[in-house]
Amino acid sequence: MKVIITKDYQTLSKKAFDVMKEVIEKKPDAVLGLATGSTPLGLYALMAEDHLKTGRSYRDIRAVNLDEYYGLSPENDQSYRYFMRHNLFDKIDILLENTHIENGLAADPAEECARYNALLAAMPRDIQLLGIGENGHIAFNEPGTPFDEETHTVKLTESTIAANARFFKSIDEVPRAAFTMGPKNIFDAKKILILATGKNKAQAVRGMVEGEVTPDLPASLLQKHPDCILIADSEAASLLEGDYHKAE
Ligand code: PGA
Repeated sequence: MKVIITKDYQTLSKKAFDVMKEVIEKKPDAVLGLATGSTPLGLYALMAEDHLKTGRSYRDIRAVNLDEYYGLSPENDQSYRYFMRHNLFDKIDILLENTHIENGLAADPAEECARYNALLAAMPRDIQLLGIGENGHIAFNEPGTPFDEETHTVKLTESTIAANARFFKSIDEVPRAAFTMGPKNIFDAKKILILATGKNKAQAVRGMVEGEVTPDLPASLLQKHPDCILIADSEAASLLEGDYHKAE
């Protein structure tokens, strides 16, 4: 894993944008694996700003997202489909029909997982963007998820429900289940870009980079990936012991 440590979140977002830009410039019809959460917001803002200023086009880009709450409609402002439109897709010229996410209202969840796995197999990702949870989760793959798991439904853990409650009016409104790509789907991407910001991620980042590779810390699987870049700000990197590249 290549590790880049930045002084702050703004620099982290700029470095992440550089990685994303390189992928898109090399391949204007690249498949981007995208993520929700607070961490990628700075990157998405830079992508939108760059599109506005330089006219960089996303018309041939395709996007697949990691996960979606179970039981929320795409119009619900807490759905990840809504998040992606609001924070990125409506601000660039990507075609909405080329953006994919699990259907939170699917009548048959098992069938929906199979559909998504087939879609991912047909659209190899040139890059997969990730955040990391305080407990080392990636997407909604909580500790204990087998590394060979593909898209599946999960019951959210109490810590994830609590962490996500800030986006809802009350904790009772946080859905209790979700669809998520599995560790295997994530690992299959050609390149992985994982971002971590803030002190509350420091323990998980330490385990991911320097700890044992174990399903107890799902992000540790990324140590095995041939092309994975972690960009962490100084707070998220504060417990790392190795000597890593510092970016200004
Ligand atoms: P965050 O979530 O970006 O909102 O911190 C990351 C995650 O839980 O994967």
